[in-house]
Amino acid sequence: MEKELQVYIDGIYYPKSQAKVPVYDHGLLYGDGVFEGIRAYNGIVFKLKEHISRLYRSAHTLMLKIPLTEEEITEAVLETLRKNSLRDAYIRLVVTRGVGDLGLDPRKCPKPSVIIITDTISIMSSEAKEKGISTVISWVRRHPVDTTTHEIKSLNYLNSVLAKMEATAYGADEAIGLDKTGAISEGVGENLFIVKDGKVFTPPSSTGALAGITAKLAIEFAKNLGYDVAEANITPFQLFTADEAFFTGTAAEVVPIREVNKRQIGNGKPGPVTKKLMAAFEKATSDRAFGVPIYP
Ligand SMILES: Cc1ncc(COP(=O)(O)O)c(C=O)c1O
Repeated sequence: MEKELQVYIDGIYYPKSQAKVPVYDHGLLYGDGVFEGIRAYNGIVFKLKEHISRLYRSAHTLMLKIPLTEEEITEAVLETLRKNSLRDAYIRLVVTRGVGDLGLDPRKCPKPSVIIITDTISIMSSEAKEKGISTVISWVRRHPVDTTTHEIKSLNYLNSVLAKMEATAYGADEAIGLDKTGAISEGVGENLFIVKDGKVFTPPSSTGALAGITAKLAIEFAKNLGYDVAEANITPFQLFTADEAFFTGTAAEVVPIREVNKRQIGNGKPGPVTKKLMAAFEKATSDRAFGVPIYP
């Protein structure tokens, strides 16, 4: 029988089938917690430092004190991967508020919990990369910046879940969320970009979009390739009439969008800028300079 994956919970490793969260954990009761989704490619944890740093920024905003230093949590992630002999992996790092009472006051939760799940990855199909994906703009608005904004990578993902369900119901691959003014914000777990007249645009954080690590890299690559890149409000009209559109994200990597609410984007095929960024990103995932090795 295959050995079960080991899950790290507060310094102890449990087999996947026995890795459990107490029912009084406010992460479960109130979505009170933060997380990161990280990937390892061929023995290198891609952009690990940046993910850990964002985890601490999310926690800082929630006044959630992570009981480990950044160095300790980095080592715990690497150790969990080693325990599971993984080289290519999806890593889910979660910090919950911890066990409290049934009220929502976080002061009743003395000890936040750190959970590290490392598993194999289900990657986007090569067809999605080659042909692009279909999307729908959802009726569910992204949370405004003065609510449970997605700038915080918190355990509140119901907004994304609802939008994803809608995309599925309409037979689309993915959903796009608008901010409360009607401007494009992001996907359910991806940042969005458009290309118009050779310029690259992405919505600002004021739309409630997460500061994506893949997005930041895509911006760097686009600039290195000589393109102008700007943060800008993008209307649904501007998205429908863009020359190209694509998503970026840890899970999605760089993926072309071929259709939005049944409107074809550009000529309906991945455009030249998107293709160059996909190639640059793929190259980066096999470059040790972009990550931390699991096995020294
Ligand atoms: C809401 C949301 N937006 C965007 C992203 C993409 O961010 P990143 O490239 O850092 O994975 C994610 C995934 O982490 C996300 O959950």
